[in-house]
Amino acid sequence: MTEPALVVRSLCKNYGGFAVTRNVDLELPRGARHALIGPNGAGKTTLVGLISGAIAANSGTIELFGRDITTVSAAQRVKQGLVRTFQVNSLFPHLSVFQNIFLACSEARGTSQRMLGRTSGQKPIIGQVEAILDMLGLSADAGRPVATIAYGRQRLVELGIALALEPRVLLLDEPAAGVPSVEVPLLIHAIDRLGEDITILLIEHDMQIVQRFARTMTVLAEGQVIASGAPDVVMASEQVRSVYLGKSGHQRFESGKAHA
Ligand SMILES: Nc1ncnc2c1ncn2[C@@H]1O[C@H](COP(=O)(O)OP(=O)(O)OP(=O)(O)O)[C@@H](O)[C@H]1O
Ligand SMILES: [Mg+2]
Repeated sequence: MTEPALVVRSLCKNYGGFAVTRNVDLELPRGARHALIGPNGAGKTTLVGLISGAIAANSGTIELFGRDITTVSAAQRVKQGLVRTFQVNSLFPHLSVFQNIFLACSEARGTSQRMLGRTSGQKPIIGQVEAILDMLGLSADAGRPVATIAYGRQRLVELGIALALEPRVLLLDEPAAGVPSVEVPLLIHAIDRLGEDITILLIEHDMQIVQRFARTMTVLAEGQVIASGAPDVVMASEQVRSVYLGKSGHQRFESGKAHA
């Protein structure tokens, strides 16, 4: 019962002759709040794709709660509680906030819903949608088309869709990407409120978000893990600082944006 939530061992991915993921090891105990950082192109999104099953690895293994899922389909991984969000929005922009989350809840339950109306058979789903909207502070936006709400709130809808899939392990790929800074606290609060029963891997460039969120972290550079462990130890690593800081990067790190 004490297996880690997620274990990645020696994971490799090549495109043509180009190694994008190189022998990556990662271990998330249950309830982890683990940040994955690294410069643009380091292979963070690719790693999320490999773990979620969207991309097939060339070699290595992935275990979810002690079960080998390396060759399990992406859809099956979702059913086993492994859920990801995307760096770029993947919502139905003309449907309402409610409808977007409703569709995800319906799909997760395997109900074939041809109608989005509120009929009695849909009551449990409606209850689930309302609970998610409430938790994310989106109830007032429920009837609005997603395209018409603030971008930070659209990212919350994306998180709501992930929650509709009842994740046990949640992979969040830059949830605050493109969100104006005034709206970032919305996302931080929402992530803060996720229960300890959900193990979280968060990719994020904004170091203020990382420092607030992470109990442990991993740094990727050119597809390889260059440091992993407690945030203060990782951030103090010479190798990490040299990857990020170079000659002029000092200010970038200190100002909160970890772009190389
Ligand atoms: N389908 C693909 N075919 C070829 N190369 C790819 C493919 N997908 C990603 N890459 C390359 O793999 C590397 C890692 O890309 P990835 O998107 O995983 O980086 P990232 O760390 O998520 O970057 P960012 O911080 O910009 O989101 C990049 O060099 C990218 O060009
Ligand atoms: Mg990425």
